[in-house]
Amino acid sequence: MALRTIRTEGDPVLYKVCKPVKEMTQRTAELIEDMFETMYDGNGVGLAANQVGILKQIVVIDVDDGNRYVLINPEIIETEGSQTGQEGCLSVPDMSGTVTRPEKVKVRAYDENMKEYELTGEGLLARAICHECDHLKGKLYTELVEGDLHNVNDPDYQDEDDR
Ligand code: NI
Repeated sequence: MALRTIRTEGDPVLYKVCKPVKEMTQRTAELIEDMFETMYDGNGVGLAANQVGILKQIVVIDVDDGNRYVLINPEIIETEGSQTGQEGCLSVPDMSGTVTRPEKVKVRAYDENMKEYELTGEGLLARAICHECDHLKGKLYTELVEGDLHNVNDPDYQDEDDR
């Protein structure tokens, strides 16, 4: 396993549409392991392959619910309700902003064995699924932010949050 370099806002690879994965190879399996390691190292809850410069439809998620999710070629097939809350991204370091997402989503994807499955997520997991699937379409959450982005190190940020 190895840490990969996380691409940041402005890097063209973050605005490109990722390509479907056709088969699992040793190289792709290593990429997935590296993505988890890189995500944990950055204290993130999700990471998309183009964030480490690879234009493949691969997402890893761990929202600390005891599961490590691998979503290959994911497709959101159902959404329900809405939630409005703070969101951040490892590709937009130190920033956070308010984004409205569905409260519940159902996604169809392939796992690391290329077995198709469906995952239903609520709350933070639903938010992470939406955020990461957007990455694969070349979209950053900053496009969806309501109001201004905040620097999480800004002392006024806390006040904003408590309002
Ligand atoms: Ni992100």
